[in-house]
Amino acid sequence: MDTLKFKIKDKFWETPEACSFVLENVAGNTLFYKPGQFITLIVNLDGKEYKRSYSLSSVAVKDKNPAITIKKIKGGNISSYLIERLNIGDYLDAHYPAGMFVPDLHPANARQYFLFAAGSGITPLFAMMKSILVKEPKSFVNLVFSSRDEDHIIYNKQIIKLEFEFPERLNVTHLLSNPSEAWQGFKGRADHELLENLISELSLDIEKSFFICGPKDYMEIAEAAIKSLGFASENIKKESFKSEIISNSKMNEASSKKSVKIVYRKEVFEYELEDNQTILDGALDHNYRIPYNCASGVCTACLGKCVEGEVDMGDSDALSENEKKMGLVLTCIGKPITEKVVIQID
Ligand SMILES: Cc1cc2nc3c(=O)[nH]c(=O)nc-3n(C[C@H](O)[C@H](O)[C@H](O)COP(=O)(O)OP(=O)(O)OC[C@H]3O[C@@H](n4cnc5c(N)ncnc54)[C@H](O)[C@@H]3O)c2cc1C
Ligand code: FES
Repeated sequence: MDTLKFKIKDKFWETPEACSFVLENVAGNTLFYKPGQFITLIVNLDGKEYKRSYSLSSVAVKDKNPAITIKKIKGGNISSYLIERLNIGDYLDAHYPAGMFVPDLHPANARQYFLFAAGSGITPLFAMMKSILVKEPKSFVNLVFSSRDEDHIIYNKQIIKLEFEFPERLNVTHLLSNPSEAWQGFKGRADHELLENLISELSLDIEKSFFICGPKDYMEIAEAAIKSLGFASENIKKESFKSEIISNSKMNEASSKKSVKIVYRKEVFEYELEDNQTILDGALDHNYRIPYNCASGVCTACLGKCVEGEVDMGDSDALSENEKKMGLVLTCIGKPITEKVVIQID
């Protein structure tokens, strides 16, 4: 699989926890990407290869260079390494931009976009917001953004600038869970009633699209509020930064040793999984190279077909029910629930 090389052109803090990296594509060719897509960084640390995906916050129509924003996760191996150890002038390897969390933009569209973000979930939505405002002059954007307090609002200054630039078509509502006493806006966490009321109050009489990005429980609340107002699933797109946790009952079943056989092109890999390992993690531990990208159940680069046995993918909805019934599985989040599984990868 082809990879990209980036040089870090700039690095700065957006909030006390989130750090932005402005990148230069050193191959020199134009990098094509859509708003909402991510790149997957390939990081070699202590002799092991790790891959972590980061949404591009930049958009080609407004920003000269691609950029990502990384939030430091407590106990997070790679986010800490990237933020603490990498500096301007250092290089990063990455896979080409990927992802389906993308609006279908057209200059003739006259839509109302509701973008629901919590914390670092703002990154893909920030790119979408800029793109919609520039590329669809008849569309409106409502950003509903949950953060901890005023200091933790990622891209705060840039969002304010956009509000000045597009006062008629951009409306931003901040929800702060722990604001200062001076805060005059909404206080508290996003809940069903609040989001339902917000959508109703802000609704314009035009076609709507909803995009949600944040922690799993936040996304569930936002989706339920949207649906309770009668909007269909087809109008709602969501992206999670974290693969779903496998359900407890299946986790117990999955905790005994399982054997995996992978048929990939002309090669056959057979191995045993350690307790609770994913099929991909087991393959990588044995240095078997099978395709993958985000390693988070989002991009489908690791797609395979389970032709024997059964694989559990938790609550992930990256594949449709129909695709799951056909035996399609994502090896990066898939764990066998039968003693043996055979996976065919094209
Ligand atoms: C499509 C996609 C886009 C992403 N875009 C961004 C982005 O723009 N900015 C960004 O900061 N991150 C983003 N992520 C998350 C990122 O890829 C890493 O998962 C994150 O940086 C943590 O990696 P780590 O190695 O530091 O943590 P790990 O060592 O992998 O995990 C440490 C602990 O933190 C938990 N954890 C992992 N990720 C998260 C999370 N996002 N929130 C809360 N807990 C977590 C794990 O369950 C574990 O308990 C994205 C992920 C995907 C799949
Ligand atoms: S590697 Fe992206 S879904 Fe599995």
